[in-house]
Amino acid sequence: MYRISEFAEKVGLSRSTVLYYEKIGLIQSQRTISNYRIFNDKDVQRIILLNQLKNSGLNLKECQACLNGKIDKAVLEKRLIQLEKEIQQKQISRDLLTTILGKSSQKKWHQQTQKLAPEAHFEWLMKQGFTEREALHLKWLSKDMNEHERYMNDFMLVFQNLERWGPGSQNDTLKALSKIPHSPETVLEIGCGKGISSLILAEHTDAILTVIDNDPPAIAALKQITDQQNLSARLQPICASMTDLPFEGQQFEVIWAEASAYIMGVEKALTVWQKFLQPQGFMVISDLVWLNESPSKECQAFWQNEYPDMQTVAKRCQQMQQAGFEILHHFDLSQTSWDNYIHPLKHRLNELKTELQDSVVLKDLNSELSIYDNYLGEFGYEFFILQKR
Ligand SMILES: C[S@@+](CC[C@H](N)C(=O)[O-])C[C@H]1O[C@@H](n2cnc3c(N)ncnc32)[C@H](O)[C@@H]1O
Repeated sequence: MYRISEFAEKVGLSRSTVLYYEKIGLIQSQRTISNYRIFNDKDVQRIILLNQLKNSGLNLKECQACLNGKIDKAVLEKRLIQLEKEIQQKQISRDLLTTILGKSSQKKWHQQTQKLAPEAHFEWLMKQGFTEREALHLKWLSKDMNEHERYMNDFMLVFQNLERWGPGSQNDTLKALSKIPHSPETVLEIGCGKGISSLILAEHTDAILTVIDNDPPAIAALKQITDQQNLSARLQPICASMTDLPFEGQQFEVIWAEASAYIMGVEKALTVWQKFLQPQGFMVISDLVWLNESPSKECQAFWQNEYPDMQTVAKRCQQMQQAGFEILHHFDLSQTSWDNYIHPLKHRLNELKTELQDSVVLKDLNSELSIYDNYLGEFGYEFFILQKR
């Protein structure tokens, strides 16, 4: 037998809670001759059971009904569903912390967060100490903070040797150029990579070409070529970021971006870059698009992860019009454009297959190539030739 203060201590409740429980009939004390409350071991056990029920999220009234065998089963079913949801949520929170602490792979988390909250994800990466360039690479390439450095080293090992870093060809570049009604005098190319298109534009126009990329080795290599070919008076490679262009407003007649607008998001690029265009200026961009309204499941799942913002041509056109552009023309990149990108990439991966045998880069690029092999046609690359209204 326990006096109230002993009982309260034994069951881990305050004295006032014990009194309250008694008042609402959850427990029933007996009285000594001198009218003191006393409790017994059965009351202790009742409180143990009550605590378990409370921990499962039932309120006191429901606990009481349960203890008395009068609970409505529907109440318990409802609570069970709720509990399962809470457990799932807690599991997500647990995974998040283990991911951030580097105790599990981050790939899935980065991909999901990129899809759900792209701006916040990017800002968060910057706050972790990544530069803008690294954060963009992380977002598009490694997708794993802990593996980032190794991933980027392996990635550059593959791509540094390749001329093209995206699909394209001289014919398609010239076809896009021909849709601009007159020969431009000033062109800004954004994300020029090694400068294949820059050199084509230099050869086929008299324009002053400013070309930017944030990859220092690519810009240095292009500078060397422009010097060798006596083009430096007309073609100026600059190492800069597309998100922070170092130019005056309305400076260029044409903005040219092959396979690069996706990096900051096509819609954002359309808005941010148009400030640098002269009135009625032109924007030419190429972007990965859905050519089929209902693509195969595997293909859809792949691009959902790799390029969540991929759109149908019609949807992109709509976005371009909404951003203040008239669409002069658009066309799918030719098979040659794809071959120019895919064949050298396959060849390079074959060369590096022993060196990169344990690398995630090899696995990722092989998955990408298998999607090209199996589903190209359901998606494609589209050139859009736009004029500012
Ligand atoms: C898919 S590649 C396309 C390159 C080239 N236009 C081509 O078609 O071969 C994307 C290019 O964008 C560049 N890039 C990535 N982030 C950038 C940024 N923030 N500012 C400028 N260029 C960037 C990359 O270095 C790369 O050269």
